[in-house]
Amino acid sequence: MTYQTLLFEVRDGVAVITINRPDKLNALNDQVMAELADVAERLATDDDIRGAILTGAGPKAFVAGADIGDLAQQGPFDGKARALRGQAVLRRLETCGKPVIAAVNGFALGGGCELAMACHLRIASEHAKFGQPEVKLGIAPGYGGTQRLPRLVGKGVALQLILTGETIDAREAHRIGLVNKVVPAAELLPEAEKLLRGILAMGPLAVRLALEAVDQGLEMSLDEGLLLEANHFGLLAATHDMKEGLGAFLAKRAPRFEGR
Ligand code: COA
Repeated sequence: MTYQTLLFEVRDGVAVITINRPDKLNALNDQVMAELADVAERLATDDDIRGAILTGAGPKAFVAGADIGDLAQQGPFDGKARALRGQAVLRRLETCGKPVIAAVNGFALGGGCELAMACHLRIASEHAKFGQPEVKLGIAPGYGGTQRLPRLVGKGVALQLILTGETIDAREAHRIGLVNKVVPAAELLPEAEKLLRGILAMGPLAVRLALEAVDQGLEMSLDEGLLLEANHFGLLAATHDMKEGLGAFLAKRAPRFEGR
């Protein structure tokens, strides 16, 4: 697929995806969502891609939300269909099996905040702003905000943001646990890449199964989640990477993981 609204490049195993509609503050119209669906599938299935960074073009916005022009046309059935489509795209990204980091360079509102939350980690520039302002428009979050925000920051703070539509700055987003780190704008992409490359230096099968255990475990009882964890722990004991990682530690040398 040739992308009209995204920039996409792969550098030494890292895919950098830039949502590229800066004149519309990178709002998620139907075309962006269709292209993001293609990207998410590519991340999941292309062995040459080991992790990804998602960001927005221009100095102002990561993503200022779903495209309000598109939303203004919708009726109840296509509104529901749009929400289901968007949710599926973000879920594919979240379950692609490889670490995905949101580099939040400005406004992350509505669908932008939801997109950032579907990534595994979030780094924000100092001037980034977050919020779920849908209620101001007479709608409610539709791309997972009502589900991922309480899972990330707790029910009380999530409801505060969702019910008031208020916008918070990067420092507050960090305080409530919505972002992992705040950095000066010039350091945003280098920091995101440094973080991702650090993760990529770990055992890739271990990273993959840890992502899966956290993702699925949150939906399970504690006992079911613990069993899933133990199963993963046992599975990893059958891998070359485990022998390499433990052996390298004991031999006081750096490990060379091969993903097998
Ligand atoms: N959908 C469609 N277009 C959007 C958009 C969105 N979610 N957010 C911004 N834009 C467009 C604006 O309409 C404007 O386009 P124009 O130049 O053709 O008029 C352009 O992006 C620049 O936005 P503007 O509002 O002029 O910038 P600003 O700096 O004054 O304000 C925001 C920035 C983010 C506060 C403001 O754009 C805003 O509130 N956006 C909507 C946020 C939102 O409600 N998102 C959730 C949607 S469900």
